[in-house]
Amino acid sequence: MSDDLKTAAARVALDYVQDGMKLGIGTGSTADAFVKLLAEKVNAGLSIIGVPTSERTAALCRELGVPLTTLEETPVLDLTIDGADETDRELNLIKGGGGALLREKIVAKASASMLVIADESKLVETLGAYDLPIEVNSFGLAATKIAIENVTRSLDLSGDVVLRLNGEKEFVTDGGHLILDASFGRIPNPKALSDDLLQIPGVVEHGLFINIAKTAILAGTNGIQILNAT
Ligand code: A5P
Repeated sequence: MSDDLKTAAARVALDYVQDGMKLGIGTGSTADAFVKLLAEKVNAGLSIIGVPTSERTAALCRELGVPLTTLEETPVLDLTIDGADETDRELNLIKGGGGALLREKIVAKASASMLVIADESKLVETLGAYDLPIEVNSFGLAATKIAIENVTRSLDLSGDVVLRLNGEKEFVTDGGHLILDASFGRIPNPKALSDDLLQIPGVVEHGLFINIAKTAILAGTNGIQILNAT
């Protein structure tokens, strides 16, 4: 996705931000574009406070002067604005390509509303072309991987479940966990997969966001498309 489209989606999202809001601030390149525009508004006098969904986003906010708080200090938020790896037309999402899915989901669920910003290539008829990130505890990794494979087989899904690496080492999330990326190709019933994955003790969270996002702003070469959850 071109940087221009990311910025175009982020710019429309600014219209949803009102003075005094407590914001959840997402992670990824599109969220970074939003932070840059938000910082301009803050420096021009807009009063907001943000909870970042990753250390990466926190660092960018600090650098640009976006005031931050934590969910401990501010546990109820007005609006979270975040990117996504995929969205279907019902605004079920796959997130976690950047590895921030756990904090992203905690922050989004602590918000009255979640707004997704993305380019239109992220819109799919059926989720699953993008690998599903599954955040797992490092204890019992091999057993958790087998349990995930058993769940996926029971749902007639197939595909590799692969430990995410960062260079030659394991990728470690901000919460100190590992990520297994599952390449299903298609996930016809994301709710069933979500429910079953969450039954596995070693699974901390997964990147399916079901019934969380309320609105998606999708930027394309022909303009902006806004989808609302029904
Ligand atoms: C971060 O963990 C992800 O959920 C991101 O929100 C997602 O990967 C979108 O990133 P881009 O905006 O960089 O495509």
